[in-house]
Amino acid sequence: MITLGVLVSGGGTNLQAILDAIASGKLAARVAVVVSNRPGAGGLERAARVGVARVVVDHKACATREAFDAQVVETLRTHGVEWVVLAGFMRIVTPVLLEAYPMRVLNIHPALLPAFPGVDAQRQALEYGVRVTGCTVHFVDTGTDTGPILAQRAVPVLPGDDVDSLRARILVEEHALLTEALGWIAEGRVRVTAGEPGKRATVAVSESRSGL
Ligand code: GRF
Repeated sequence: MITLGVLVSGGGTNLQAILDAIASGKLAARVAVVVSNRPGAGGLERAARVGVARVVVDHKACATREAFDAQVVETLRTHGVEWVVLAGFMRIVTPVLLEAYPMRVLNIHPALLPAFPGVDAQRQALEYGVRVTGCTVHFVDTGTDTGPILAQRAVPVLPGDDVDSLRARILVEEHALLTEALGWIAEGRVRVTAGEPGKRATVAVSESRSGL
């Protein structure tokens, strides 16, 4: 059983997927707290519905990104969080969070990284004209969507797609991928090995719990 802290800024459908996977017994985890930088985030309402603690850390009230992250870290620690999930969290995180949770912060991104990092990944994919895009779960580092990749799923771009239709098709896969990847972590199947200087870290997922 792993203890999660989920950071949201918006509607929170990825948070909902995590909560549903836990409720149905598919994911051996507990969401200890949901943190949002926006008081109106739909994710907070989803947490409230199932009695999960909610905390708003208003970024506008923080002088720096580091000051914001320090408050987030304090909140996560207070709730005993072991793993942090950025689930539609629209803030760049700083070393203050990453050093408090080294290789324990995950993000879900709506593209096949390293293609189309940053905001509007679905629009970037459409404008580029790719035939296949998808979603990525990765460990967060100090870059924008640059950290070691844990899991990916491909999603076709279909004729006539617009940003909304593509977003919806990717989102379905995001929910499945994020909960699956968290399941690997909960089962102790994920190992991250630091790379040589200048090289990327490698992420290994064993076939079974005893495989590492
Ligand atoms: C998802 O597309 C996620 O990949 C991106 O922001 C969106 C959040 O959706 N980072 P939701 O708030 O989980 O519904």
